[in-house]
Amino acid sequence: MKNMVEPTEENILAGDHLFNSTAKPIPCIICHGIEGDGIGLIFQGIKPYARNFTCYQSMKKISDGQLFWIIKNGSHGTQMPGFTKLEDKQIWQLILYIRGLTY
Ligand code: HEC
Repeated sequence: MKNMVEPTEENILAGDHLFNSTAKPIPCIICHGIEGDGIGLIFQGIKPYARNFTCYQSMKKISDGQLFWIIKNGSHGTQMPGFTKLEDKQIWQLILYIRGLTY
C-alpha cells in the first residue's frame, strides 16, 4: 500500500491539524505527545507506551500500509483506538505528518 496523497504543504498541515486537535475520538497528541515523541499527557497511564514517531530506527521498519491499517483499525492489545470515522485521505495526511516528525 502506497500513500496516494501528495506531500504538499497543504496536506501535511491538514495532518498536523488532525493530529493535534481535530481527530475523533481523541486527538493523537494526547497519547503520542507534542511532536509525536510518545510522551503525551497520559503517557504514564498506558502500557505499552504510545509509539515514538521521532525514532527513525523504529519508524523506518514500519510501512505506510501498516501505519494506515493501525490508524484505521487500532492496535489490538494496546490503547491505540481505531479512527474509523476518518476518510482515507485524512489518514494519509496524518501519515505524511507523522513521517515528517521522524529524525
Ligand atoms: C488513547 C491513546 C492514543 C491515541 C488517542 C492515539 N494513539 Fe496511536 N498508539 C497508542 C498506543 C498505546 C500505541 C501502541 C504502541 C505500540 O504498539 O508500540 C499506538 C500506536 C500507534 C501506531 C502504530 C505504530 C507502530 O508501532 O506500528 C500508529 C501509526 C499510531 N498509533 C498513530 C496514531 C494516530 C495518527 C493517532 C490520531 C489519529 C493516534 N495514534 C492516537 C495510543 C494512542
